[in-house]
Amino acid sequence: MNDAAFLTLSDVSYTFGDDGTQVLSAISLAIRQGAFVALVGASGIGKSTLLRVIGGLLQSTSGEVLLDGKPPAQAKTPVGIVFQKDNLMPWRTAYDNIRLPLELRGENGRVSQQRVQEMLDLVGLSGSGNNYPAQLSGGMAQRVAIARALIHKPALLLLDEPFGALDALTRERMGRELLRIWQAMPVTVFMVTHSIDEAVFLADEVLVMGSIGGNGLPATITEHFPISIPRPRQFSVRRSVEFQECQRSIRKAIQAQ
Ligand SMILES: Nc1ncnc2c1ncn2[C@@H]1O[C@H](COP(=O)(O)OP(=O)(O)OP(=O)(O)O)[C@@H](O)[C@H]1O
Ligand SMILES: [Mg+2]
Repeated sequence: MNDAAFLTLSDVSYTFGDDGTQVLSAISLAIRQGAFVALVGASGIGKSTLLRVIGGLLQSTSGEVLLDGKPPAQAKTPVGIVFQKDNLMPWRTAYDNIRLPLELRGENGRVSQQRVQEMLDLVGLSGSGNNYPAQLSGGMAQRVAIARALIHKPALLLLDEPFGALDALTRERMGRELLRIWQAMPVTVFMVTHSIDEAVFLADEVLVMGSIGGNGLPATITEHFPISIPRPRQFSVRRSVEFQECQRSIRKAIQAQ
């Protein structure tokens, strides 16, 4: 695995043009290829905005975002994005939802059919390809959304609270599934979550976003917590002193805001 920074942000800021609200200020980050990074912080602090800037959906107002050396909107590096709501098309089956990005690129051949099936297998939905979103549970629908984001082999997977709407047990299971998927493919993951427990369990590094002046926007990355808990991580690791220490420090960093 390449240790050179794959995603870098230098002094990035973002201001919404419509009302001039500055949300992000002076954000600098370096993320290596293959890393699993989690971002936590209070509601409304700017996590989704940062994710959109990284994904090239919003253009930073100042500073520079480089994905494999290029601004995200121009990068050849494919990026997959999963939002909190699964955003599946209700009139298409799971299979056809996953196939959509290939279809949009005009890829409809046998190889693409195989690829859709591989993705269904990868997310544990081998037998559910013919189901419509309304026939899927919340966890299954999110797995379809993840499969759709992975179909074009992204080098970067951006996840915005992908399990936020799921019950606690399903959420834990999905976290383990996500680790399995991450380990099965060469992808860098940047995930926004509200759950400190989930962040510590999944990530190599947890970033805390907080306000610069300690009072509202704009926000920046106030702390970085490397998580050196060895992998593979079993569920029981949550009871370890190391895990609980990490959780405590991160909670303190968020509450210090
Ligand atoms: N289009 C917009 N114009 C102006 N301000 C906006 C716009 N969209 C979001 N904001 C503001 O930007 C701030 C950050 O929003 P963002 O969605 O990034 O927060 P968040 O950390 O993802 O919150 P949550 O955890 O609740 O999802 C909020 O205060 C919000 O009101
Ligand atoms: Mg958000």
